[in-house]
Amino acid sequence: MRIDVLTLFPKMFEGPMGESILGKAQEKGQLEIKLSNFRDYSANKHHTVDDYPYGGGAGMLLKVQPIYDNLEAIKKASPDTKKRIVLLDPAGAPFNQKMAEDFSQEEHLVFICGHYEGYDERIRSLVTDEVSIGDYVLTGGELGAMVMIDATVRLLPEVLGNELSAKTDSHSTGLLEHPQYTRPAVFNDMEVPEVLKNGNHKLIETWQLKEALRRTWQRRPDMLEKMELTAEMEELLEEIKQE
Ligand SMILES: C[S@@+](CC[C@H](N)C(=O)[O-])C[C@H]1O[C@@H](n2cnc3c(N)ncnc32)[C@H](O)[C@@H]1O
Repeated sequence: MRIDVLTLFPKMFEGPMGESILGKAQEKGQLEIKLSNFRDYSANKHHTVDDYPYGGGAGMLLKVQPIYDNLEAIKKASPDTKKRIVLLDPAGAPFNQKMAEDFSQEEHLVFICGHYEGYDERIRSLVTDEVSIGDYVLTGGELGAMVMIDATVRLLPEVLGNELSAKTDSHSTGLLEHPQYTRPAVFNDMEVPEVLKNGNHKLIETWQLKEALRRTWQRRPDMLEKMELTAEMEELLEEIKQE
């Protein structure tokens, strides 16, 4: 996968993009991340990228020209890749696991990180997606782009050591993940549930499903409402409600 990021602050990416799963994916050649500072593409002799809004109002807006030219340079450098161009914006579609899964199927993602008060509206005509990482306002799009890149890249084949772990993660299944334990079997009087120690895989699977349902029902009932439950899930949920 190839990822381009258009940002005024490329240095913000240095630590997070070089460590852990993202760092390893690049080392193994599964991922190439290219950062470009769209200030370098400003046609203005002072390299300005922002200007006052027409009609007045607080703050400065990002101009369309530097971002347009930066995108053109990316298209010229890699004319053969199909690009998904994502504008970071609090008014965009909410980012979620399903979107991360969709992004992980793409060959070339381009993220545009905004700053200041926002964008000249015409920048929106240059992109395929407008995405928000949550209902709050950040200073710039950089942290949001890093969140999306991390959630996407860990889903690429063979990037995670144990591929199964991404498939059973919270949100991948539509449920929150069930509780998990590691050694010791008893810590400060807190015991690992007996069923997990008896080696009966069928019983363990049922327990895990039930506890995932319990956790989702208790913490995120909205997720259950969106899910089509199997007969087994309906039955387990009924048991949970009676308990
Ligand atoms: C200070 S914000 C601008 C907010 C804008 N005035 C508004 O009300 O929508 C500057 C930039 O940070 C990024 N940003 C802020 N919050 C974000 C969020 N929740 N999701 C994605 N990007 C965000 C966007 O790129 C945005 O253009």
